This record gives sequence, C-alpha cells and structure tokens, in this order.
Amino acid sequence: MAHPKRYTVTAALPYANGPIHLGHVAGAYLPADIYVRYLRQKKATVVFITGSDEHGVPVVIRAQQEGSTPQKVVDKYHTLIKESLQGLDISFDIFARTSSPTHYETAANFFKTLHEKGIFEVYETEQYYDPVCNQFLSDRYIKGRCPSCNHPDAYGDQCEACGRTLGPKELIDPVSAISGAKPIFRSTKHWYLPLNKYENWLKKWILEEHKDFKTNVYGQCKGWLEQGLQPRAVTRDLAWGIPVPLSEATGKVLYVWFDAPIGYISATKEWAKTQQIDWAPFWQDPDTRLVHFLGKDNIVFHCIIFPIMLKAHGNFILPQQVPANEFLNLEGKKISTSRNHAVWLHDYLADFPGKADVLRYVLCTIAPENKDSDFTWQDFQDKNNRELVANLGNLVHRTFSLVHRYFGGCVPPSIAPSAADQALLARLEDAFTEVGNAIEAFKFKEALQLAMGYAALGNKYLTDQRPWHLVKSNLEEAGTVLHITLQLIATVALLIKPFLPTTSEKMAHMLGLQETSWGSTNLVQAGDPLAPPIVLFEKIEDDVIAAQRKKLQNRSTETVVA
Ligand code: MF3
Ligand code: ZN
Repeated sequence: MAHPKRYTVTAALPYANGPIHLGHVAGAYLPADIYVRYLRQKKATVVFITGSDEHGVPVVIRAQQEGSTPQKVVDKYHTLIKESLQGLDISFDIFARTSSPTHYETAANFFKTLHEKGIFEVYETEQYYDPVCNQFLSDRYIKGRCPSCNHPDAYGDQCEACGRTLGPKELIDPVSAISGAKPIFRSTKHWYLPLNKYENWLKKWILEEHKDFKTNVYGQCKGWLEQGLQPRAVTRDLAWGIPVPLSEATGKVLYVWFDAPIGYISATKEWAKTQQIDWAPFWQDPDTRLVHFLGKDNIVFHCIIFPIMLKAHGNFILPQQVPANEFLNLEGKKISTSRNHAVWLHDYLADFPGKADVLRYVLCTIAPENKDSDFTWQDFQDKNNRELVANLGNLVHRTFSLVHRYFGGCVPPSIAPSAADQALLARLEDAFTEVGNAIEAFKFKEALQLAMGYAALGNKYLTDQRPWHLVKSNLEEAGTVLHITLQLIATVALLIKPFLPTTSEKMAHMLGLQETSWGSTNLVQAGDPLAPPIVLFEKIEDDVIAAQRKKLQNRSTETVVA
C-alpha cells in the first residue's frame, strides 16, 4: 500500500473513574504504541493521541462511592493513569483530558454545527426521575430485580449476576440508587443523532469498502448494521459534563460518548499548538491515515457512531483502520473491576521496577487479537525465564562475553565467511520486510514472534558453530562467527525496538549503534568497540510469582468499590 503523508493514531481515552489494568493495556495501549514506534522508526510523520475521558455517569458514581466529588475523582485518576502508562513506556505525543477548555469548545462547536445543519431530531420521552433528589436517573442509577434471574440488585442497563443487557423499564420494583426512592416518570426533551439515516452509507463504507477491517471488527459491524440502527440520544439530564450549547437545553449535558471521541480532535489541537503546527491536516487531509486502537466494547462507537458524527459534520476524514482487540482474561476468569479481579498497571510497575519490557513482551505474545486470551502469572514467569532470559538475554550475553574475552571488546573482522554464514546474513536482509508486514497488518503477536525467531536463529548458529571451541583452534574463524552474530544481534535490536524499547536501547548502547531506523543494514563494522555487557533480563523466581497469585486471591475476596 502506498504510504500516506501522515498518520493520526488514537488509543481509546481511558475513563478517569478508576485505574487501568492489564486488559486495557493488551487491548489498546500496547498495540497502539508498537504501531506508532514502528512508524516513527520508519521516519513517518505520526501523532499519537490519548487522554482521560472524564465525563459520564461512572465518574459520578465513583465519586459517591469514594465520598468525593467528580472533579477530585478525575484529577486523581487522570494522574494515576497517565503516570502508569508512561511507566510502561507508552509513548503518547499528548495525554489530554476532556475537561480542558479546548475540548469544551471543540465539543460544543461540533454539536452546534450539527444543530445548525439540522442533523438532530428532538424527541420528548418519559424517563425515570427521582422525586427525592429531584433529578433524572440514568440507567445505572436505577436498581431493581432482574426479570431473568431474579437477582435483587440489577442495574437499569445490565444485570451483573446473569450478564443480561437490560432497559431500565424492564426492572421489577425499580428504586433510585441515589435516594432509594421509588422513581416516577417525567417527560424530558433530548437531541438525537438519527443513525438510521446513515445506515445505507455505512453499509457501503464498512461492508463493501472496508473488507480489510479485522474479522472480529467487521463481524461486529455487520451484526449492528443487520439489526438496523435507531436514532440515539446525544444529550443527557446530568449535572456532570459539557453543557449542551443551546438556550433551550439548560441543565443538560452532552452524552459522554458524543464528547469523548471529539477528544481525539481537541487533543490533536492542543498537541499541534505545542509544536507550532497546524492541527487540521491530521483530521482533514485525505492523505492522512487515521487509525483507532481500542477494545471490543468500543467498536460500535468507533465504527458506527463516531464516523456518522464526522460524516454529518463534514470536513473530516474517516478512520482507515480500527484494529480492535478482544478481551484479556486473568487466570482463566473474566477481569472484573467490581470484584477486584484484575492486575492494576500501577501495582505491576511498583512490584516489578525496571521490568516494563517484560510485561510488554508477555502481553504482546498473548494479545487477544482475534479471540479472548488469558494472562497467568505462570505464563508470565515462563516467558520471562524461557524466552527473554534463555533466548535473547543468553544470545547477547554469550556473544559479548566471547568478544570481550578473546577480541579485546572490539567487533572482530569477518574473514572468508562460509556458505552457512552467507545464508544467515541473507536472511537478515528479509527480516525487516517480514516483521514490518506483520506490524502493518496489525499482527503484533506474529511480528514479535518473527523478531524473536531471529534471536533463536542466532543461538542455534552459535551452538552449531561453537566459537568457544574455535577460539582455541582457529581464532580467525571464531572472529567471523562472532562478527556475524553481532550483525544479527544488531538487527534484532532494531526489530524489537517497537516492542521492547528499553531493551533495544540497552542493546544499541552495548553495540555502539548510531543508526537505529527501520531497515538499516551493516550495523556493525570490524574494529567497532563494544560496551561491557549489561544484563538484559533476570530470572523471576517462584516465590515472586506465588506472591502475585496470593495477592490476587486475597484481593478478589475484598469488597472494593467499582
Ligand atoms: N472511556 C471509554 C472506555 O474506556 C473509551 C472512550 S474512547 C473515545 O471504554 F473515543 F470515546 F474517546
Ligand atoms: Zn439477572
């Protein structure tokens, strides 16, 4: 595919109503970061956007649970999430927030434009209202008995006991979750985006023109489109959010899923300002490739609702790709924030300092790219010990030790390489295309496996050539083998750079590499001095893993606020 002029890459804005866990990382942030780092290594123009999603009912509920205010809640989690993602070396160009003035203005203007174009339909409907607190109740604020399983505490949108999706009017004996009062019906006016009017356009755009979407994404879109789309309210009766910019809508705010995706645009504006460049081409030039990374629960918003908003507004490009992932489970069970069955990213970083790359590696090898997958601490340990330590770490360690011991720490010359040597070098030439193609197809798991395959190839080459024996009989030949192995190690350092940036940097430093861009060849020259070897990975012992398992078990039994 021809290369576009620039890339706008987004990762779903995390809700600032709680910390993020490994499922979020594997679903959206890590794949997005790998993709972006690869593009930068290829010297593409790219902006990588995310930020906190600070509105919506979940924030208000969290504030009540914590005995706090919505503002304090979002301030706290914005900082926690931002710092934990930075700790994992997710290399956003900007981590914005939807409470910023730029965002308020951008989102309100977006709404106004649609309003002025006559896009919205206004309907008056009967909604549940709390007569004690004098406020309308969003679905989450209504509790009652589940019509399916009789669970007494089902929410107005879902029963957490049986998993069924509900409408608030289906609950038996509904009560307000705020005051406990019996809710009454009251009529209220809302602004609806008529998704149904865009159905034919969407069918063409996705089902015909985007057969290149991942099958899990395409399949979900097809399902939604076959069911038929309905007008969807984009305003809410709530005190927390961006006020609807119309005089007849006082007390109403924009629906969080209306304002949040516009957050990508406002974040781009804020970033462009810091760079003193124009933001507009990143969202308006057809030669920009827009790519959204997210988890499967976000597909409908990014493939159906947001594209309709952009299309209705006009002047915006549409996403070229939406490489959504499925879900990551934990120790065989669904991750649950309400039951605290989760590994929180900030906990991992505190418990495993200096091991961001280990988590990046393990999560990439189990990325739920096509179906749900499972994180276990056992697998985490195995992959660290058997793959990172035993394969990559060992290759680098063996090679550097020999070069320091027998060749004064300088790259030995390659003299009369054998046919096997030449074959190995020839394979390295294809490595970048091979791994790059997998990354561009959003097959990150496969790409990493291919890259690590070259490290395994290096180990096999060393085992076959036995330079530790050769140094005694034929120093020249031993030098040639080590020269070729160093060439291979340097290639691996570049191939793993998008996945394991810190490890790659350590390797580049040890090798004295000047050039680390994608596809560079002839990376080391005879005579180049090498830095002393540094340990890339350490073995993780059983007790460390046992402690993590125990922590998870203990925590899962605590009652924790969602
Ligand atoms: N906050 C949402 C979630 O965590 C994602 C919002 S993505 C955006 O599921 F497009 F709305 F920004
Ligand atoms: Zn139920």
